[in-house]
Amino acid sequence: MDTIIIAQDYEEVCGKAAGLLAAQILLKPDCVLGLATGSTPTGVYKRLCTQYAAGLLDFSGVRTVNLDEYAGLGPEDEQSYHMYMRHHLFDHVNLQAENTHLPSGLAPDQKEECMRYDELITSLGGVDMQILGLGVNGHIGFNEPGDAFSEGSHTVSLSESTIAANARFFPDAGKVPRQALTVGMKAIMGAKKILLLASGENKAQAVRDMLCGPITPRLPASILRLHPDVTFLIDSAAGQLLPQI
Ligand code: F6R
Repeated sequence: MDTIIIAQDYEEVCGKAAGLLAAQILLKPDCVLGLATGSTPTGVYKRLCTQYAAGLLDFSGVRTVNLDEYAGLGPEDEQSYHMYMRHHLFDHVNLQAENTHLPSGLAPDQKEECMRYDELITSLGGVDMQILGLGVNGHIGFNEPGDAFSEGSHTVSLSESTIAANARFFPDAGKVPRQALTVGMKAIMGAKKILLLASGENKAQAVRDMLCGPITPRLPASILRLHPDVTFLIDSAAGQLLPQI
């Protein structure tokens, strides 16, 4: 069932998301979490780290699979998603390193790497709970707007709007990698539960199109409405263009 929660602000979005993730870990200590990077989930990870430090959560059996990684960036690169995950979560909780997975941005054969990553997700039994952020252009993972929904993991050329949006994490826009490896819609839609987080007025149009527009690869997140168990967790700024009910 689709659930739409309009939270007051970013803090409330993070509090609710962290609560749902914590419940997932408590109910299934060896669960597979699908993780996202970017600005939106940082407050969620911070809360999970705090709960771990307080002895309320145990990550020793948890497995994680991230959505994506920039092509050409290695795990030690400050801007890589490997490093992001270490900074925001992995270095602060008792996740076992061998249980954390991201696509390799340095794989010599990206096609092979994408196949390996899809097989890995399948071998873990799929994702129990998938966290997603929302691109200003409606992307999820790095599934950019296009003519068709992509199925498997693949290499993608980032759109100009994504490069511009992510330039804030790099010394200058010219340093943003032009390509990334991302899981496709099969892995995302195959998750048992999905939590889509959106915060801030710059996401308002994408939120409206995602929830009220046609289901189309031109707005990749619109496909989530076909998922049987998705929670859209949106703050009031991101939800400001939604029709009042
Ligand atoms: C990150 C990812 C992206 C982001 C999206 C929103 O792993 O897959 O889809 O979730 O670009 O990014 P922020 O949260 O920085 O606005």
